[in-house]
Amino acid sequence: MTVQFLGKILKNPMVLASGILGNSKDILERVHEQGCGLVTMKSIGPEPRDGHKNPTVIDLGHGMINAVGLPTPGHLNMENEWKELEKRDFPLVASVYGGSVKEYQMVAEYVSSKKPDFIEINISCPNSEQHGMIFGINPQSSHDVVSAVKKVIDVPLIVKLTPQAPDIARIAKVCEDAGADAICAINTVGPGMVIDIESRLPVLAFKKGGLSGPMIKPIAVRCVFDIYRTVAIPIIGLGGVSTGEDAIEMIMAGASLVGIGSGVRYRGMDVFQKVADEMETWLLDHHLSLEQIKGAAHKENGE
Ligand SMILES: Cc1cc2nc3c(=O)[nH]c(=O)nc-3n(C[C@H](O)[C@H](O)[C@H](O)COP(=O)(O)O)c2cc1C
Repeated sequence: MTVQFLGKILKNPMVLASGILGNSKDILERVHEQGCGLVTMKSIGPEPRDGHKNPTVIDLGHGMINAVGLPTPGHLNMENEWKELEKRDFPLVASVYGGSVKEYQMVAEYVSSKKPDFIEINISCPNSEQHGMIFGINPQSSHDVVSAVKKVIDVPLIVKLTPQAPDIARIAKVCEDAGADAICAINTVGPGMVIDIESRLPVLAFKKGGLSGPMIKPIAVRCVFDIYRTVAIPIIGLGGVSTGEDAIEMIMAGASLVGIGSGVRYRGMDVFQKVADEMETWLLDHHLSLEQIKGAAHKENGE
């Protein structure tokens, strides 16, 4: 089930989401070998950061809550990883974040010199210059960060959006106008909180965290649906996918590729091949191709 994405041929439309399996070449290579068309690295930030205290990730059965806190060695401290990753023979997305437009630009320019196939900017981070407001909920700061990064990189740019934006489709359009080559939607939903009633305390050390996995899929599908109506660039649909039927739903909402994060926990590292096979079976059973179902939910009466 090969697909074209921004000039590259991928063996299937499945994408490993950022932050799920780290940055080691061996692990990312294994995911690709086990059926993932495109793999995304953990987000890389400007300064070394430990992240939050444990517990940081809790499985709620119907999804997960996490407050990992974007741990990163810092962009200048990954020479060993890059040396290995330069020898890869699989398509790679490097994910970048910062606390200001300048930081995004600095990290993205450096990461671009390491020649990933794509750069994704995670704009779900607080903007230090705007009193901690999340970049991706504000059209102006989304525009500023995308246009600044676009100027300094020489690989296609994917912008990863947050469902916290009151109008995610408007943010997507602003990002497209500022030079984004693709949109990835969505990051975790929240923040949420879970309290252990015996200890009477929040289960996460950081207390609040982002929700992911099956419980957020309807929100992710709605976001992809809204974005597809607004932009012409391709969309990576992400959020709550763990089966072939989930992936078909994302494609019908308008996604070109389908990401999986929490699904790796639920179905193992070979979830990508399982989901690709399940999609293929569904398409064969229905005598349809991927192209025929893309955006199908937008057509009146399913025509
Ligand atoms: C433990 C954990 C860590 C994550 N770290 C990152 C990250 O570093 N950068 C990022 O853009 N998204 C990060 N995410 C968000 C995922 O990439 C994804 O957008 C989200 O989990 C929704 O997809 P899912 O329901 O398939 O998990 C993380 C999610 C989880 C569960």
